[in-house]
Amino acid sequence: MLLRAEVPGNLVRPTSPSTSRSRPATSVSDALATRRSVRAFLDRPVDAKLIRDIVQKAARAPSGGNLQPWRIWIVAGEPLERLRRLMDEKLASSPRGEGSEYHVYPPDLASPYADRRFAVGEALYRSLGIPREDRDARRRWFARNWRFFDAPVGLFCFVDRSMGPPQWADLGMYLQSVMLLLREAGLDSCPQEAWALFPRTIADFLSAPDGLMLFCGMAIGEADPEAPVNSFPTARAPLEEFATFIGLEQAETTIPFGGKL
Ligand SMILES: Cc1cc2nc3c(=O)[nH]c(=O)nc-3n(C[C@H](O)[C@H](O)[C@H](O)COP(=O)(O)O)c2cc1C
Repeated sequence: MLLRAEVPGNLVRPTSPSTSRSRPATSVSDALATRRSVRAFLDRPVDAKLIRDIVQKAARAPSGGNLQPWRIWIVAGEPLERLRRLMDEKLASSPRGEGSEYHVYPPDLASPYADRRFAVGEALYRSLGIPREDRDARRRWFARNWRFFDAPVGLFCFVDRSMGPPQWADLGMYLQSVMLLLREAGLDSCPQEAWALFPRTIADFLSAPDGLMLFCGMAIGEADPEAPVNSFPTARAPLEEFATFIGLEQAETTIPFGGKL
């Protein structure tokens, strides 16, 4: 376990008694299967070098024309505590945020997307024991987004304002690469568009250039294995609902040299 004095840089939070870290993923499939959005973290530091390596390695993600449009900030230690205090103040004065610079969801989100969004929200609050009627409690819990759910490390992802949908898709490839590499290292994450509700505060805090737009944040750390909010299941649509296969059966039998797809 890392002790305060042994951690390079300032990615340090007080240590807590040993609780076993999530099992590191052993393959890409395992990393995919074990990645989930984690919203409760152990109060333990994360190795600064490991985070730097992951932020660098994830840049092997593809991007159209190799534009590499992601711009990443990592915040930890005292600056992260300062950001949390700032967010407490901002939430007190603007509980609904400053207004996001992009639509987090389409304004008229229809079925089946709206149903899926509803279902995951209900599953999340059920795991926390917060009923739908208790809007205040739900709002208070949602506000934990703006503490990075007390994770030891926060990531912010920006993109140049001149970029369009293809480059925003590239951001997703980069961020998923980060999340899978975190799993390989036994760490966990939660991507967070909630941060997009405070674009000015975050850009000011980070001194991000005006030409950049905040896409999202990401909480990073070790999952708290005891927290029920980290174990509710999330569904995925059946294969036939989102994928169409044309000619795949034939392809299997016509690949030369006896190869298989
Ligand atoms: C770009 C992006 C933004 C997200 N924003 C938030 C967020 O602000 N707060 C949150 O709790 N979860 C957020 N999530 C997590 C999703 O709710 C989650 O990925 C989805 O419900 C599927 O669950 P899983 O990640 O556990 O598989 C976000 C996910 C993505 C990809």
